[in-house]
Amino acid sequence: MTGTDVELAARYLEQGQIVGIPTETVYGLAGNALNEDAVLSIFKIKNRPFFDPLIIHVDSLESAKKYVLEFPSKAMKLAKQFWPGPLTLLLHKNDKIPFLVTSGSEKVAVRVPDNPFTLALLKHVDFPLAAPSANPFGYISPTSAEHVEKQLGKSIPYILDGGPCQVGLESTIVDCTLESPVILRLGGLPVSAIESALKEKLLVRISANSNPDSPGQLDKHYAPNTLFVLSENLNKTLIKHKGRKIAVLNFGQNKIESQVFELNLSETGSLDEAAHNLFDYMRRLDNGKFDIIIAKKLPEEGLGLAINDRLRRASVR
Ligand code: TXA
Ligand code: MG
Repeated sequence: MTGTDVELAARYLEQGQIVGIPTETVYGLAGNALNEDAVLSIFKIKNRPFFDPLIIHVDSLESAKKYVLEFPSKAMKLAKQFWPGPLTLLLHKNDKIPFLVTSGSEKVAVRVPDNPFTLALLKHVDFPLAAPSANPFGYISPTSAEHVEKQLGKSIPYILDGGPCQVGLESTIVDCTLESPVILRLGGLPVSAIESALKEKLLVRISANSNPDSPGQLDKHYAPNTLFVLSENLNKTLIKHKGRKIAVLNFGQNKIESQVFELNLSETGSLDEAAHNLFDYMRRLDNGKFDIIIAKKLPEEGLGLAINDRLRRASVR
């Protein structure tokens, strides 16, 4: 069932059940992070491997402090500036957080999401919420309650509908346990904003298999069922695939020379708008009617870096 009843959602969570929750990035599949049975259910419903750890969600910086050993000054600075918002901090966990949540790691990923319904929900319960994106493992993340309902509606008792996700890309993850913080996942908060806040250049270490620090960053991810190709030059790629049923995921003022079905992430070339539309448009094109989806590569700057990361992973076979 989908609805806007925060108290009902809280009651399910208190019973150890799993609930779909809205955030500004993507919808989450939430359970009581301190209840191992609830956490187990999340992995089961999502069909997620246990080596891929979960982010915990809290209502404030004060609440985050209850679950970590320390809050280094750089982490504090980022939290004060960007929470609530699309930023996840990796910190040393304390004993309250089960190792099941962190896949055995001493570090826990934590964030304060920016959605009024979920913030109210978090204030209502006295535990943090462990929540991965509410999609079956490996598929495109959900940015509306409807996306969640379609794929997981039968597996969970309730989806809290907080409207479409404003940002539309998962949170940026920063490991703050190191003297110089390291970016582990590109996401809804541009790296440049984090670097400006800290007044230092940061190392970005997101590549999949060589990165045991962010185990969930598998190369094949965000993958539609339809063949998906990332292109620097749409018209060239279109010629190459002539004769097939083609859908194009375009961006900006970029004229297509053939008659194909086309969605444009942002005609005005806005990266914010493109991020907001990305997963919804990918899902719309992945409807079984096309042989191939050809996506235009975006400019490698700001949110364009995170969007290209998702497009590239979607194209891994
Ligand atoms: O925006 C978001 O972050 C969304 C919303 C629901 O908050 N959540 C999300 O969760 O994207 P998920 O499970 O799809 O991705 C979580 C990723 C893991 O795959 C892993 O890369 C990283 O966060 N992560 C979580 N806990 C970690 C830990 N203890 N150590 C290293 N990486 C961790
Ligand atoms: Mg995910």
